[in-house]
Amino acid sequence: MTQPINLFEYESLAKEKLSGMAWDYYRSGALDEITLRKNRTVFEQYELYPKMLVDVSNIDLSTNILGQTLSMPLGVAPMAFQCLAHPDGEKATAKVLSDLKTLLILSTLSTTSLEDVAACQSHNLRWFQLYIHRDKGLTKALVERAEKAGYTALCVTVDAPMMGRREADVRNQFTLPSHLQLANLVSLTDLAIPSTIGESGLFAYFQQQIDPSITWKDLEWLQSITNLPIVLKGILRADDAILAVKNGVKGIIISNHGGRQLDGVIASLDALPNIVNAVGDKIDILMDGGIRRGTDIFKALALGAKAVLIGRPILWGLAVNGEAGVNHILQLLKDELILAMALSGCPNIRKINDSFLIK
Ligand code: FNR
Ligand code: LAC
Repeated sequence: MTQPINLFEYESLAKEKLSGMAWDYYRSGALDEITLRKNRTVFEQYELYPKMLVDVSNIDLSTNILGQTLSMPLGVAPMAFQCLAHPDGEKATAKVLSDLKTLLILSTLSTTSLEDVAACQSHNLRWFQLYIHRDKGLTKALVERAEKAGYTALCVTVDAPMMGRREADVRNQFTLPSHLQLANLVSLTDLAIPSTIGESGLFAYFQQQIDPSITWKDLEWLQSITNLPIVLKGILRADDAILAVKNGVKGIIISNHGGRQLDGVIASLDALPNIVNAVGDKIDILMDGGIRRGTDIFKALALGAKAVLIGRPILWGLAVNGEAGVNHILQLLKDELILAMALSGCPNIRKINDSFLIK
């Protein structure tokens, strides 16, 4: 196999490697996939506006999020079921991020237990993504385990009180193959992704298990049971960002869940400026959705994100070449970012701002 040279080549190869059901689950957006497409096309609406004759011989990528130092402003978004892509799944992802010293967010719905993932890392740049289940005892037990295993923040996903409708998953009656489990939940309960007739098993799981009544009040409950900082994932409006700050939240991830939840919703990149204006000096702002090139990272940082996360490309790397594939995906993006900074005349990520962009 010739070595892929960009993320899109990984995507094509991953499609060949994965089962139809896994590929559809990973790829899909909700309904007509308007938002899934918009997350990509939005990057083309911004043009770069570079400065010349700047010394770019030293490029500094390191940044600080919630008091932790990341080697670069790029981490990995929480994604369920990584062992569908490769037997090493979440462990491979965790090892690579440990080596690269940047942020991992582990999904509640991982196919490797949060403890086994933590054991793959030599530092604790890892957050636990929490789905608040109807069973508060179970939710509390997850939080306690995450704390004990050295996760340094709870990333509460707020854009999924119900699961978006991904039509391919409905058609495929998506479920996990029998050798994979909800590894964080099996030891607490006998929860599993149901096999249902005529719908996605994950959709059914959400309907049965995930609490759709969650509001800001429940964050108080969460804060009462943990000392971990809370980050909200899925905020898109400035008024919600202001409420997040008021409620003691330490970071937000501007995200539309990779176009998998509410179809037709604003692209993450377009949601940045208002939120940055409203709370950019009070809270750490990350974003995800559609990042596939170093220039995409540059544009998101120029609009005020402190760091970005990638989702699907990690699954493509895993599917194509396990740990080495994940490593290569992140290296490609890192190198592309360095080049984008050099050619823009901005060697320091803290100095990337909207003067480098034209819409
Ligand atoms: C996700 N995402 C997600 N988010 C979350 O909070 N908890 C989860 O368990 C999952 N699971 C998940 C599975 C798969 C297969 C995908 C593709 C996505 C959303 C994810 O964290 C992120 O917001 C998007 O994937 C980012 O967009 P890109 O980079 O995939 O375009
Ligand atoms: C998804 C869920 C698990 O997007 O967040 O598939």
